[in-house]
Amino acid sequence: MEDNQRLAVWVLWYVFQGKNVDQALLLAEKELKLSQVNLGAVKDYTYGVLRYGWQLKYLVKKLCKKYPTQLIENLLLIALYQLLYTHDDSFTIVSQAVNTAAKLDHIAVKGFVNAVLRTFLREKDGFLQLARNNEEALYNHPQWWINKIKKQYPLIWKEIFNEAQCRAPFTLRVNTQQCRVEEYLKKLSEANCDVVWVNKEAVVLSTPCSVEKLPGFDVGMVSIQDASAQLAPDYMDLFSEARVVDACAAPGGKTCHLLEQGQSIQLLALDKSEERLQRIRDNVKRLRLTSPTLGITVADARDVNSWWDGVQFDRILLDAPCTGSGVVRRHPDIKWLRRESDIHQLVAEQEALLNNLWPLLKPQGKLVYVTCSIFKEETSEQIQKFLKKHTDAKQLNSGSEQESFIKPDSFHDGFYYAVCQKN
Ligand SMILES: C[S@@+](CC[C@H](N)C(=O)[O-])C[C@H]1O[C@@H](n2cnc3c(N)ncnc32)[C@H](O)[C@@H]1O
Repeated sequence: MEDNQRLAVWVLWYVFQGKNVDQALLLAEKELKLSQVNLGAVKDYTYGVLRYGWQLKYLVKKLCKKYPTQLIENLLLIALYQLLYTHDDSFTIVSQAVNTAAKLDHIAVKGFVNAVLRTFLREKDGFLQLARNNEEALYNHPQWWINKIKKQYPLIWKEIFNEAQCRAPFTLRVNTQQCRVEEYLKKLSEANCDVVWVNKEAVVLSTPCSVEKLPGFDVGMVSIQDASAQLAPDYMDLFSEARVVDACAAPGGKTCHLLEQGQSIQLLALDKSEERLQRIRDNVKRLRLTSPTLGITVADARDVNSWWDGVQFDRILLDAPCTGSGVVRRHPDIKWLRRESDIHQLVAEQEALLNNLWPLLKPQGKLVYVTCSIFKEETSEQIQKFLKKHTDAKQLNSGSEQESFIKPDSFHDGFYYAVCQKN
C-alpha cells in the first residue's frame, strides 16, 4: 500500500516532465518495477491528481510556508487527493505519506509532511473555501483554457467544466456482427454488471472493469468506445459498395465501427503512424471484421499523391488530430500537457487535411469532419473557413449548433461532427 504512493509520485513526475500518462506508466513499469499488484491504485492516484490538480496545488501552496521539492509536492498532492476524494482512512493516509516521504527524501522531511497534512485535516473547511475563490482551483483547468471556454460557450461554460472534472463513463460498443445488443445486455446482467443502454450499440457500465472481465471481449463481441465517438456511422450515411476512406484511422475505433455496420463497403484506412496502425490490424482481427476489400495503409493523408489511386470516394471520414479538449475527463493529462500555442499548429494541420482530401470526393459525396475537441478554432470556425474556400461544399448538419457540437454530459464526451456534401 505504502509503495502505491511512492510509485504514483514518480508517475506524476514523468507527466509533469511532459510524458503522457500511458508513457509515464510504461516508464514506471520498466524503471520502478510497477506491477499489476500496484497498477489499480497507482492509476487512481495519478488520474485523481491530474483531474483535481489545480485545487490540490493551490492547497499545497497555502499549506506550506516553504515550498517543498517536486517529489514531496507530488506526495502531498496524492495524499490530499486521497483525503478529499477517496474513502481511505485519513490516519492511514497520513502515516503512509509520512513513511513515503522518508523514502523519497530525507528522514527529516517526515515531520514536515505530517505537519502539513494534519494542519489540512484540522482546518479543512477554511482551506477548501479559500480554494473555491480561485478560478483555476475551482474548475481545475489552466486559466487560458477557462478564459477560452467562457468566451466560446457563454451559456454553458460552467456545465462544461463540471463535466470535465467528473470520471469518464465506461462505455462499450457491442459488435452487432457477433451478437445483438439485447443478447449482450443479458450476458452483462448474468455477470452482475449494472448497465445503461445509451443508444444503438452504446452501453455504459456503472463500474469500470478490466477488458478481460468483459464477456466475449477476447472473441470480439465488444469494444470500449465513448458514445460520442460511436455517432460516426450515423453521420457517414453508408451504403453497400460505397468507396470510403478513413483518413486518420488509428487505433481503428471508428474504422471497426463502420465495418460492424455490415454493409460491405470498400474501406481504406490510413494513418501516418505505423505503430498505431498495427492497433487497427489487431482490432480488426479481434473483432473478426476482415474483409477482402479492406485496405490498411501507412500514409500522410495530406500527401495524396503517395497513396491515392485516382478514383474518387463516396465518403471521407476525417477524424482529425486535435487538442482533445473534449475528452479531458478521460485523459486528464491533456490539461497539463497541452499548451495554448499548440492550437495554431493543429488548426493548420486540420486545414491542410480538409483542403487536400476534398478533391478526392465524388460529386454528391460526403466528407465527415470529426474532432474530440470543443475549441471553436478546431470545430465550427475551421468548417466556416473551409466552406468559404470551397464553394462546391455545403454543410448538411448546420441547422443549429446542437447538430454538430456534442455537448459533454454524463454519457457523452465533448465532440464535433460536420457533414460536408459536394455539389
Ligand atoms: C483522433 S486520432 C484518430 C482516432 C481514430 N479515428 C479512432 O476512432 O480510433 C487521430 C489520428 O490521426 C493520425 N494522423 C495525424 N495526422 C495525420 C496525417 N497527416 N495523415 C494521416 N494520419 C494522421 C494520428 O496518428 C492519429 O492516429
